[in-house]
Amino acid sequence: MKFFIDSADVGDIRKALALGLCDGVTTNPSLVAKTGRAFDDVLKEIVSLVPGPISAEVTATDAEGMLAEARRYARFGEQVVIKVPLVVEGLRAVKTLSEEGIKTNVTLCFSPVQALLAAKAGATYVSPFVGRLDDISEDGMAMVADILQIYRNYGFATQVLVASVRNPIHVLRAAKLGAHVATIPYSVIEQLAKHPLTDSGLKKFLADWEKVPKAKAR
Ligand code: E4P
Repeated sequence: MKFFIDSADVGDIRKALALGLCDGVTTNPSLVAKTGRAFDDVLKEIVSLVPGPISAEVTATDAEGMLAEARRYARFGEQVVIKVPLVVEGLRAVKTLSEEGIKTNVTLCFSPVQALLAAKAGATYVSPFVGRLDDISEDGMAMVADILQIYRNYGFATQVLVASVRNPIHVLRAAKLGAHVATIPYSVIEQLAKHPLTDSGLKKFLADWEKVPKAKAR
């Protein structure tokens, strides 16, 4: 499973790159707003750091407007992927972008049939939002399982990019299901590395090491 970093914060992205855990990046308008920076500047900087796919989200609500934004962002770098919302106008835009050879990530997906439409429109990625479904007492990962089954049934090339990841269990379940990608906040990457038995085991090893007689320096 590929690890994308779900952030527009270049500090987070640099930290994940240093761990070899940044196969790509996803941004969205809310993440960009948190940085307080102009999106063009943020996108240029991420493009200079990350060779893998980088999602840049359009904000127009009609297909023509989405296409204009998409074509502009696509010129920032060949790794730029255009993030388009899963609405009818978005699907129209995705079909055209797919015909133009511009990669797309269809976002705000909350049902398997929405994901089926994204694949039929030629999306490169579809982003099912698992955390936000869990928030309303639905089962986000069950949606991911259904999408993967439907895509396998018909041999769609669209990759399932598990989004709205909130905790290590989302990552575990995405990997067990065979999702192509999980986009993960950097804070969750750090949580993945943590285990209380690792911490207590290391503490004991270091304490015992103090008791080991040290050879004299030669
Ligand atoms: C996906 O690409 C989105 O940026 C993101 O995963 C949304 O996550 P949230 O529901 O935590 O805002």
